[in-house]
Amino acid sequence: MAWLRACGPDDLQEGEALRIETLPPIALFRVGGEFFATDDTCTHALSSLSEDGYLSGEEVECGFHFAKFCVRDGRALSLPASKPLTTFAVKIGDDGVHIDVGERPYRQMR
Ligand code: FES
Repeated sequence: MAWLRACGPDDLQEGEALRIETLPPIALFRVGGEFFATDDTCTHALSSLSEDGYLSGEEVECGFHFAKFCVRDGRALSLPASKPLTTFAVKIGDDGVHIDVGERPYRQMR
């Protein structure tokens, strides 16, 4: 377990996503006042879900071939993706949003 501070408490607005530069990268989403972290790379190919995807409620649609995933639990909701995204625990502290990145190497954030 390795908690990484991903952003400040107000850095990510409702309905937005942020790419976290772990290796491989993680996407942080803010939906309904909650934060969810998943793999950033679509399981179909190499699209960045935070940068090229479209977030609608708890679903993110890949910008390349339009597979959809649930950001809460990582499920693949539509083809051409069939494999789920890995999800990561998130906690909110006074200083911001933290993600348990596990063993993933990362560059230090803001
Ligand atoms: S890269 Fe995401 S659906 Fe193809």
